[in-house]
Amino acid sequence: AKNDMPVIDPLRIVAKEMKFLTGNIRKLLGSGHPSLDRAAKYYTQAEGKHVRPLIVLLMSRATSQCPKAPQRQQATFQASSAIDTSISPLSVLSDFNPSATTEKDVEASGDTDILPSQRRLAEITELIHTASLLHDDVIDHSVARRGSPSANLEFGNKMAVLAGDFLLGRASVALARLRHAEVIELLATVIANLVEGEFMQLKNTARDEKNPRWSEETLSYYLQKTYLKTASLISKSCRAAALLGGADAQTVESAYIYGKNLGLAFQLVDDLLDYTRSEQELGKPAGADLELGLATAPLLFAWKTMPELGALVGRKFEQDGDVARARDLVMQSDGIEQTRALAEDYVAQAIHALRDFPDSDAKEGLIEMAVKTLKRNK
Ligand code: FPP
Ligand code: MG
Ligand code: MG
Repeated sequence: AKNDMPVIDPLRIVAKEMKFLTGNIRKLLGSGHPSLDRAAKYYTQAEGKHVRPLIVLLMSRATSQCPKAPQRQQATFQASSAIDTSISPLSVLSDFNPSATTEKDVEASGDTDILPSQRRLAEITELIHTASLLHDDVIDHSVARRGSPSANLEFGNKMAVLAGDFLLGRASVALARLRHAEVIELLATVIANLVEGEFMQLKNTARDEKNPRWSEETLSYYLQKTYLKTASLISKSCRAAALLGGADAQTVESAYIYGKNLGLAFQLVDDLLDYTRSEQELGKPAGADLELGLATAPLLFAWKTMPELGALVGRKFEQDGDVARARDLVMQSDGIEQTRALAEDYVAQAIHALRDFPDSDAKEGLIEMAVKTLKRNK
């Protein structure tokens, strides 16, 4: 509608930096092996939403005006070492070649308050996210992603898994080159967290039971899983952005809390859209979670007042009619509304975390990102 057009377009605030994102990512993913090159770059073709890099760049800019920490011992980030992607019989397939230096490696002009290292961080977050999608689509037997055949469908499971591993490898090299031990530790932890979250999801509930009963633990297990699976990357990369900018401890913590709450809200909305939107709208199959045996927030809220859902959760909606039955019950309940309300709560907390940041376009952009999380429909 005309009236609620956002005044601030978050993308415009960091448009210059975002312009180089995909190109730089593709450079980080170059391989001399043509089919690896193709598989690794496959998910960079269809334009993703680039939510994570956008948040990292906005956070970088928003924290540039915040108080600084006492100077840390600075080992300088080498923005400019290119990657050797050639295959000669003697060279290791995908070594970085530190001597092949170009100044264009982290492109975009230097006249902004966003550091080259923060731009690189934005690229690294997208790499890690994309790696997790490659693996996720294998695990979920997904056939479509961003409106195109999924990588596992296009290349097969083996190549999709290996492509994901390759992305993590290249992300790790880029990360190491930031020469910032705390940031390396944060993003390495994210990779572990993604796997932990996925493991928790495979299990659905804390204990394996035939007929689990709803308890407060049901929700906290789900939220912990959601943090690991989604919010960890966003929150820790926000933290890393602030650290790279040299922000003080309080700012670093606020950046983290913003990212954590935004990440939780983001996934809650994702889980809600799986119930409310069509495949066409999502660019991927709708109602997929129940089919995968997953009990997400809308169902967990429904379960609280509909104990009969326990048996279905226990058998992962595997019996004939389970998925439809669960879906009906969720739709009769206020599970969707409660999920939305919880997401709204997290969004409010995310915005609150920014209260001490000085006013800036970037801060407004971060707020708008949070608000948009609730409005999005894909
Ligand atoms: C998408 O969730 C998937 C994730 C957010 C993370 C998946 C993590 C792994 C597969 C562990 C391995 C991680 C790495 C870094 C190699 P979804 O299935 O709910 O969303 P979708 O609908 O987009 O598929
Ligand atoms: Mg999936
Ligand atoms: Mg999944």
